Amino acid sequence: MSASTTPRSFSIGEQDFLLDGEPFRIISGALHYFRVHPDQWADRIHKARLMGLNTIETYVPWNEHSPQRGTFDTAGALDLARFLDLVAAEGLLAIVRPGPYICAEWDNGGLPAWLFSDPAVGVRRNEPLYMAAIAEYFDALLPIVAERQIDRGGPVVLVQIENEYGAYGDDKDYLRALVDLNRAGGITVPLTTIDQPTHQMLSDGGLPELHKTGSFGSRATARLATLREHQPTGPLMCAEFWNGWFDHWGAHHHTTGTAEAAAELDELLASGASVNLYMLLGGTNFGFTNGANDKGVYQPTTTSYDYDAPLTESGEPGPKFWAFRDVIAKYAPVPDEVPVASAPAPVFEVVLDRSVPLSQAIRSSAPSLGTWGEYDHLPTLDELGHFRGFALYETTVETGGVLSFGEVRDRAQVFLDGEPVGVLSRDRHDTALVVPGGGVLQLLVEDQGRVNYGPRIGEDKGLVGPALLDGAEIAGWRVLPLDVGSLPAAARRDVEPGEASVVSVAGPAFAGGSFDIETPADLYLSTAGWGKGNAFVNGFNLGRYWSNGPASTLYVPGPALVAGRNEIVVFETLAIARPVARFVAAPELGHTEF
Ligand code: GLA
Repeated sequence: MSASTTPRSFSIGEQDFLLDGEPFRIISGALHYFRVHPDQWADRIHKARLMGLNTIETYVPWNEHSPQRGTFDTAGALDLARFLDLVAAEGLLAIVRPGPYICAEWDNGGLPAWLFSDPAVGVRRNEPLYMAAIAEYFDALLPIVAERQIDRGGPVVLVQIENEYGAYGDDKDYLRALVDLNRAGGITVPLTTIDQPTHQMLSDGGLPELHKTGSFGSRATARLATLREHQPTGPLMCAEFWNGWFDHWGAHHHTTGTAEAAAELDELLASGASVNLYMLLGGTNFGFTNGANDKGVYQPTTTSYDYDAPLTESGEPGPKFWAFRDVIAKYAPVPDEVPVASAPAPVFEVVLDRSVPLSQAIRSSAPSLGTWGEYDHLPTLDELGHFRGFALYETTVETGGVLSFGEVRDRAQVFLDGEPVGVLSRDRHDTALVVPGGGVLQLLVEDQGRVNYGPRIGEDKGLVGPALLDGAEIAGWRVLPLDVGSLPAAARRDVEPGEASVVSVAGPAFAGGSFDIETPADLYLSTAGWGKGNAFVNGFNLGRYWSNGPASTLYVPGPALVAGRNEIVVFETLAIARPVARFVAAPELGHTEF
């Protein structure tokens, strides 16, 4: 059921957006439903209105909705209809950006990994196999959006075609084909494109019949002037006003000055332009959903997508909330009501009193962590249809020597007869190490997130051949793709609480513990002192952690907890010296540049 009201009109006039025929300035903020627990959507949307926003913008991640071809999941955090209805219920408008490519620091920029299984598929251009797959996606998605458009009484006023296409290609037939698919799918609201404000990108990324917008975070007057040269009529819009930035593992936590960001917003609004803050609230790359960049060095994006946005990852109004609210109040009505800050999160420790080595867990059958397959060559994980997370590769070697691969995507911990030998890490361009002798060679391989920007989208994950030992090819491999959904159960099985005392966690291993709470509320799990892995609460995959930083906490959304007994499980690939889960009062997103 959509929360529809009276149909209204929204169009693009000679100078302005027109809402029911009247000039209307969009003051929007990005909020990705797929990065926020669904039971928190209403709270975040409400706070958007309290900041003075009149619109919420979201991307749609195709790969999340369609993990396999032919599926379209709308459960839980993927219930876009519910999200849009909540936006409408708050009295706000909505902008939807269905891609199909979305970038967004999201795994593969939102393109499903299965799309690349057929090498004949040509992405981000007018290639029939690719367009046919998009048609299937839009068949499932667009009815949800179409019935929630403003002319049918819903909140949706704009739909974006592709994303910063001018930074990638110039195939106008592709853009036209996307327009046709949107129109055929019942999208009647104005369609837009977005590009970084350079002449090349604005001209390559758009079509005359689509309204061009820009993405930038500073120097608004100059950027809007460039945009105006390519969009001679109608409203100017910064459809991504970058008010913060994202973080990579191993680098610093990005922050931008509140006063500077507020001044940039002021300059933008003073010019009369419309805006979409990127982000209003960044949220979290839960599970294995983060993307990565690679412009010569592979840089996976962190679990926290806090973005130094006006609302923090956990929905708290930060300094930019108040500063932006003041700026917006100069140009538009802002409600008197203000959000109430939450109390600090409870501080406590949970002993991880259960631990199961991965080697033991994979031998048990209930629940199964996966099924071994045998191959006469080195398969990539994509070849096995295993598109995310971990897999174990195994082979037997008669002697030691130098073990090398074509490429490691993205990280392989190497074991000989169960003993650690070393790590091959893509972010250091490692491809070879010394194996001290013959025996059973195992490699625990992690896909750390698919590149979401540039030509490397869609590349295969896992071990890429040739696999050589002192120059001779290793042909026979056994591979066990790890079913990540079954990971949390692994620590529960085999070892019951109290049966064994855990002195430390020697990874790769599962460790678990239980704790009781009276009233579920947000928690921050400290991962300081832990190595590298994933943590789960009540089966909810909080995401990756890594001693590489900068973040050393994982956000635990209150709705993932229950009143009473809760369970934490950690899949640690390296080592934990002190087997305790510490919950701390506030997030620790790490060191900043200055
Ligand atoms: C561009 C993209 C967004 C996002 C930002 C950086 O503007 O359009 O999806 O990747 O960069 O956060």
